[in-house]
Amino acid sequence: MKSNQKIILKEHPKGAIHCGHFAQIEAPYPRLEPNHVILRNHYLSMDSGFRQWMNEDAGDGYLPGMQLGDPVQSIVIGEVIESDNSAYPVSSIVLARTSWEQFSVLDGSDLCSILAVDPSLELYHYAATLGTTGLTAYFGLNDIGQPKAGDTLLVSTAAGAVGSVVCELGKAAGCRVIGMTSSEEKCQWLDTALNVDGRINYNASRPLTEQIAEACPDGVDIFFDNVGGSQLDAALANINSKARIVLCGAMSQYQSDGVEPVYNTWPLITQRARAEGFMFSDYQHQYAAALTEMGAMIKAGTLKSHVSLFKGIESTPQAFTDMMSGKNLGKCMVKL
Ligand SMILES: NC(=O)c1ccc[n+]([C@@H]2O[C@H](COP(=O)([O-])OP(=O)(O)OC[C@H]3O[C@@H](n4cnc5c(N)ncnc54)[C@H](OP(=O)(O)O)[C@@H]3O)[C@@H](O)[C@H]2O)c1
Repeated sequence: MKSNQKIILKEHPKGAIHCGHFAQIEAPYPRLEPNHVILRNHYLSMDSGFRQWMNEDAGDGYLPGMQLGDPVQSIVIGEVIESDNSAYPVSSIVLARTSWEQFSVLDGSDLCSILAVDPSLELYHYAATLGTTGLTAYFGLNDIGQPKAGDTLLVSTAAGAVGSVVCELGKAAGCRVIGMTSSEEKCQWLDTALNVDGRINYNASRPLTEQIAEACPDGVDIFFDNVGGSQLDAALANINSKARIVLCGAMSQYQSDGVEPVYNTWPLITQRARAEGFMFSDYQHQYAAALTEMGAMIKAGTLKSHVSLFKGIESTPQAFTDMMSGKNLGKCMVKL
């Protein structure tokens, strides 16, 4: 009989996540409920932001905390294989927030949308640059960062999923792009894969503030912040007048016990700068235009959409823990 393999949360993580926090279970193949659809998931998107909703007593105005024994929440790309919902006919390709499982049952809520898949593009792009990752990069950079040719754009987690797309979009907009990451190997990759104009290893022995000043001699016009804490402090020490700080994520605190403080807010005042947070889901009505633009860039080769690909549901815990510890280059995803 057909089954449904799922990865559940076995233990709430404290500190760094590891594979032992998860377990694989075999559930029965789902039954189609009235007004629902069954999705065969093709790609699971590994998104670092979900880490914080794995903590005990997590949950906020955006998402509920994950419960022990429940399948781990995830953005997925899947295909409708059974439908009792006329809005989602069989064969539709759907982007949804479900979980780490082979088959999902949906009623059309929870970020569910049918994708207008371009047959000349491979499906994996829709779990990466043409999915929530690329949309996050696109709206954060364009709406809040407002890049102009000649601007200096500094990007944290530049070798990761969101960060690498921001670097590529920034280059295409004519910015001078400086990427920050955790090692010399990843700095090399920023050079060869993303063609950045400068790169910074934040684990090097020299103070980060000095390294940024050297890599950005004309100051920072846009800082795309995926990390917060001390990296944000060091970037703020180097901002120009009217700089834009795109508050996208807080990697420095997802696996720590408390919040990572930011001390250096004074330059925001003296430089008349603006720091603004956002969620990609704020822009749902503009997804189609953004995806058309980025799809054209992928076809033209100006957006490479780099991925770190894992295969099989059983590889999902490893994929997620590798991504959280920075082993990924570009978007980390699992192909089922
Ligand atoms: N606002 C939104 O709507 C939205 C949507 C999606 C994602 N995001 C945010 O975007 C950011 C990137 O997410 P992603 O899913 O694309 O992940 P990712 O960048 O592909 O992977 C996470 C990266 O974080 C870095 N990292 C890990 N631990 C760190 C630590 N303690 N301090 C600093 N950096 C650390 C590692 O890169 P290095 O080796 O380079 O340090 C790792 O590769 C996250 O902050 C996420 O919350 C925001």
